Amino acid sequence: MDYASHTDHSITAGNICLIGLMGSGKSTIGLLLGQRLGYTFVDLDGEISTSMGRPIREIFEQLGEEKFREEERSQLRRFCQQEKQVIACGGGVVVTADNLEYLRRQTTVYLKASPETLARRVGPDKERPLLKGAVSVAQRLATILREREPLYRDCAKITLSTEGKDPDTLVRELLAQLPAEISSPAP
Ligand code: S3P
Repeated sequence: MDYASHTDHSITAGNICLIGLMGSGKSTIGLLLGQRLGYTFVDLDGEISTSMGRPIREIFEQLGEEKFREEERSQLRRFCQQEKQVIACGGGVVVTADNLEYLRRQTTVYLKASPETLARRVGPDKERPLLKGAVSVAQRLATILREREPLYRDCAKITLSTEGKDPDTLVRELLAQLPAEISSPAP
C-alpha cells in the first residue's frame, strides 16, 4: 500500500516504537519499558480497535485488511506527531510504505524470535486474523517472517533477540542500548 512519499514534517523523533511479529513481546516489553522511562505506553492495535469501535478480528472480517491498514497508518502517524511514548505496533505495521518513514524517524526496536518460539508464545489463538485456518502456526509465521524481516531491519535502529529471555532481562538489555538522551535524560 503506498501513500504520499513526501517528507511529513509533523512527525517527531521522540518515541520508541516496538516492532516484530505477533508473539514477540511488544506489549509486555512496551508496558514495562514505558514505566521505567516515564514514557506513555501506547498499544496501537488497542487504539485502532477503539477508533473503529470493534475488536481487530471483526475489523478484518467485516471491513477487510485494507481498512485496517488505513486506520493503522493514521493512528501511527497521529502518535508519531507526539513524543515520549513507547508505541507497541502490530506485526504488520511495516507493510504500509508511509509507516516505514515514520518508524525510521523514531527509535524503533525490532524484537526478534524464531517462528517456533513465536508459535509457542501465541498458542492456538483464534483472535489473530493472519493465523486463521493455519495448519501449522509456526509455518504460517515463518512465511510471514520471510516477507517482513527485511522491512523490520530496514526501519529498526536496534534489533533485540528475545529468545529465552524474560521480560525484565529484555528491558534491561534494551535500556542499555537506547541512546543516552532517552535512557538517562539530562535533569
Ligand atoms: C497483525 C498483527 C496483529 C494485528 C493484526 C495484524 C499482522 O498485532 O495488528 O492482527 O499483520 O501481523 P500483533 O502483532 O500485536 O499480534
